[in-house]
Amino acid sequence: MTADAFPALSGLAYGGDYNPEQWPREVWDEDVRLMREAGVNLVSVGIFSWALLEPKEGLYDFAWLDDLLDLLHANGIAADLGTPSVSPPAWFFHQYPESRVTLKDGTVMGFGSRGMASHASTEYRGAIERMATELAKRYASHPAVVLWHVHNEYGVPVAEDFGPRAVASWQRWLQNRYETLDGLNSAWGTAFWGQRYDDWEHVVAPAATPTIVNPAMKLDWQRFTDDQLRECFRIERDAIRAHAPQPITTNFMAHQSWNTDLWKWAQEVDVVADDHYLWSPDEDAHIGLALSADLTRSVARGNPWMLLEHSTSAVNWQGRNTAKRPGEMRRNALSHLGRGADAIMFFQWRASRSGAEKFHSAMVPHAGTESRVFREVVQLGAHLKDAAEVKGSRVVADVAVLYDWESLWAHDLEWRPSDDLQFRERMRAYYERLWRDNVTVDFAHPEDDLSGYRLVVAPTSYLLTAAAGENLGRYVEGGGTLLVGCFSGIVDENDAVHAGGFGAPLKDALGLTIEEFLPLREGRTMSVELDGEQLGADVWAEQITLAGAHVRGTFVDGPGAGLPAITRHEHGAGTGWYVGTRLSAAELSAVMTGVYADAGIAPVAHAEGLEVVTRRGDAHDFVIAVNHGDGDAELEITGTDLLTGAAIDGTLGLAGGDVAVVRTASARQGGDRS
Ligand code: GLA
Repeated sequence: MTADAFPALSGLAYGGDYNPEQWPREVWDEDVRLMREAGVNLVSVGIFSWALLEPKEGLYDFAWLDDLLDLLHANGIAADLGTPSVSPPAWFFHQYPESRVTLKDGTVMGFGSRGMASHASTEYRGAIERMATELAKRYASHPAVVLWHVHNEYGVPVAEDFGPRAVASWQRWLQNRYETLDGLNSAWGTAFWGQRYDDWEHVVAPAATPTIVNPAMKLDWQRFTDDQLRECFRIERDAIRAHAPQPITTNFMAHQSWNTDLWKWAQEVDVVADDHYLWSPDEDAHIGLALSADLTRSVARGNPWMLLEHSTSAVNWQGRNTAKRPGEMRRNALSHLGRGADAIMFFQWRASRSGAEKFHSAMVPHAGTESRVFREVVQLGAHLKDAAEVKGSRVVADVAVLYDWESLWAHDLEWRPSDDLQFRERMRAYYERLWRDNVTVDFAHPEDDLSGYRLVVAPTSYLLTAAAGENLGRYVEGGGTLLVGCFSGIVDENDAVHAGGFGAPLKDALGLTIEEFLPLREGRTMSVELDGEQLGADVWAEQITLAGAHVRGTFVDGPGAGLPAITRHEHGAGTGWYVGTRLSAAELSAVMTGVYADAGIAPVAHAEGLEVVTRRGDAHDFVIAVNHGDGDAELEITGTDLLTGAAIDGTLGLAGGDVAVVRTASARQGGDRS
């Protein structure tokens, strides 16, 4: 991965998806004029252009794209050139009907939408390789092209394919993974329910079955599906690399992605890029945004990353698509910037008049340039220009939150002790606590070297390998502070319960195991007493077997009445905390007091809703402050607000909804991790 995604651009990148094929040529001229007015310097083009680029099989038409790229270049706008593999044309599926995705119930997807090609199809794989090669050969040295954008959001709208070719690939994948059928039978525990296999060809896809599918099989199916997607990415990436020098990316969806293990994906791209959309039902969607941004930076291993898509206002694919409030787009963009993004891009430049996304907001809305949205787009462009020197600076965190897509997949398998305990909800609750305490976090994989962090939080680590358990044990022994949420350390990589019982891999770090789960009936609540305080809890209780840990909190009532709920364990030079129930972000506050004290972390109190993140540069630090609240807020800081040019001498005042990017003295000499 390169630290600088777009060395060809001197500052931060600003722009969006540009789909000019929807518009007559004269609109393009107006578009580039408006782009210049808005400070746009990068646009993503060609992502859905296959039908225009190859109107008939083997017959290419690049004239319009030549014209477009020349026009962009003449106007000082760079291009992130897409490969159109997410949307093969109608002729392709007519010619190769077996290249369509087959759903679980046997339904074969029809044409008329997007993203319906089977990743196992040899014809599809051949066609995307040819298209990527043609594009790379033609545009390798085009001065507008600074980046390649392969495909679009791998894994949506469909990832799994249950067709015959996918099943044949699946059988090969399994042979490669297990080598012998004994290996597969043992990993999947096929001795139960009489599932033993004695021929690879008998291993079908986990499609429609009378009751639940073997969970280990389903977990492998998910790994296989993800691998198939990544293979397709590599086909295009390598075809481009053979001819073109520009960096190559694809757009992830961080915490909103389910099918792609981004720890693996991030190793394949030259620069990490993410798409993020606010979730309308969430009143505090900016916290979900921060989580996604931190996760994206973390899979990028701290390197600057690109926000390739977000929205200027409403999206159109949720049940109730709320419009952004005045200034909200700017706050969203600045939060991404603060958390390491060096590019702020949108879907899409000009609102579509026709088609599926005509009610989706855009940089140029249907109302035109005399609109709040366009005025805010112009203002944001100016801000990013003023803040150009932030480019390349890094966020440094003392706290890591463990995140593992394999654990997410396993957690979501059927027949768990309680449907109410959800991976994403738990991740959000713990993250929200840290966000509200103004503690900046990285995310980490459970097997990563964690020794540089003062505190490691594992909100939900249902699947935890023995190696990860040892890693966490070593981390605590070496002086770290670990906080683990309930239903963690339960199964290994095959969704098999660990020998030694629930929580066995965490026994050293936490000084306990779990004897039995005691989940609550739907809607029931209970209390936990911690240091004389009664905390509300729900969903989950359990019977802990102490093996050295001290009880800090106790279930007052509910199925675990009188049993330990929250524990603390000293192990080597460090401490392992455990929370054996579901506490909300608010209730977690009481637990964090002790955890922060053990970790030597002193959270800074800011006004409610004030988000403050620091990016560390070579010569200066940049403090990005975003006031999500309605009230005025103050921040103690000295420096220059790059957005206004104002000198800040000790106190920055931020009105409700306002933002600032303050260049301040570097904290490097303080000896912090960097
Ligand atoms: C996704 C896609 C875009 C567009 C947006 C709309 O992110 O990548 O093509 O459909 O959603 O929000």
